[in-house]
Amino acid sequence: MKITIIGTGYVGLVTGACLAEFGHHVTCMDKDSGKINSLLAGKIPIYEPGLTELVRKNVEEGRLFFTTELEPCVSSASAVFLAVGTPTSRRGDGYADLTYIYAAVRDLAPHLSKYTVVIDKSTVPVGTARQVARLIREENPAADFDVVSNPEFLREGAALADFMRPDRIVIGTESVKAQSVMKEIYDPLYLISTPFVFTGLESAELIKYAANAFLSIKISFINEMANLCEEVGADVVDLAKAIGLDGRIGGKFLHPGPGFGGSCFPKDTLALLRIAQENGVSARSVAAAVEINAAQKAGMVKKIRDALGGDVSGKTIGVLGLTFKPETDDLRDAPALSILPPLHEKGARIQAHDPQGMEESKKMFPEFFYVQNVYEAAEGADALVLMTEWNQYRALDLDRLKSLMRNPLFIDLRNVYSPQRLQAAGFTYVGVGRKA
Ligand code: UDX
Repeated sequence: MKITIIGTGYVGLVTGACLAEFGHHVTCMDKDSGKINSLLAGKIPIYEPGLTELVRKNVEEGRLFFTTELEPCVSSASAVFLAVGTPTSRRGDGYADLTYIYAAVRDLAPHLSKYTVVIDKSTVPVGTARQVARLIREENPAADFDVVSNPEFLREGAALADFMRPDRIVIGTESVKAQSVMKEIYDPLYLISTPFVFTGLESAELIKYAANAFLSIKISFINEMANLCEEVGADVVDLAKAIGLDGRIGGKFLHPGPGFGGSCFPKDTLALLRIAQENGVSARSVAAAVEINAAQKAGMVKKIRDALGGDVSGKTIGVLGLTFKPETDDLRDAPALSILPPLHEKGARIQAHDPQGMEESKKMFPEFFYVQNVYEAAEGADALVLMTEWNQYRALDLDRLKSLMRNPLFIDLRNVYSPQRLQAAGFTYVGVGRKA
């Protein structure tokens, strides 16, 4: 099938490469010629494991194309995916900014020349799909089309696996004809018995927000339990394991830490709150998750300060990891962004390392010092903070670290290490929700 993807950001590129891998003829379109030129030169603008290879393979095998020209790839496609960005609006009111979606729709509508399914892949508020249909009708009354809401559930760092082996595919549409096009697009997933949820437009749109909000609530819940564990002398790692073994609860997304970040949870929880408010419905559990998350990040600043004796002025803090999670170069809403600046403002020297996030961080925080490896981050440090659980931080040479540090204090915001092991190696250990 001929498929066009509009927007070559994270979701668009992953979707394009994976659908080409399924055997479809896919054209990824973006207005940004710089981006398209670099994609044509084989350069992938984001770090996502396996993506560069998958794009290269599908380009070489003649199934994946890149262009800045909208007309030819829209008029020839049976399906057009909208995968442009929907950032939180600059007004700071929690609204998702739909400017890019609506601009893309107005641009593509005149080029619809045969029956085409227009698919919302971007995360958009409830009602957007109907608005997209209205806009297309306005711009091109003769167009033969259906709109589908087909939310993505891609985790950064695991996006290819999530696309190729998803837990479910959600298809929101009122058209049987569009349903059959969608079935054809995802045909390879039928073979691996992926559950398909066929539903209406509004349900599909809300499912995405509800899934992310629920996962955010799980994280905020376990972070609150971690704080309680610290006070009563319990261990949250044991607690999470034990409650997670209850099949009704499930063990995933019960890892306490410095709070959730990234491009989705912070944005989608705010957008869901806004949708609820507009509809006169309370979403207090989601509001609490958001509030707890902000408090968790602030609590990490206090944790680090307290561990350093209450005053960080003149202290050197080595930081392992800046991105919001491992296997990404994404710093959006990363806990590091809230935790490190207040420490720096109070006079701490921040000595940071990240396998992928340093370029971006240098632009945001030129006042930090950036080092090339873990051991440089530990040099002369009064504390080493493990902020992001990159695999390469999981088996550190503890003796070497200790010999480099001024004060062997290890603050493990991801509970990667066992307190006993660190203490045996001569460190003072501070984790999240566990007794030292
Ligand atoms: C998320 C969703 O998982 C995905 O389905 C969605 O479509 C996009 O948003 P992503 O943001 O890439 O994916 O990362 P995810 O692995 O979900 O982690 C989000 C944040 O939660 C990270 O900051 C992570 O560190 C944090 N987290 C996750 C925890 O603090 N504890 C956990 O147990 C799990």
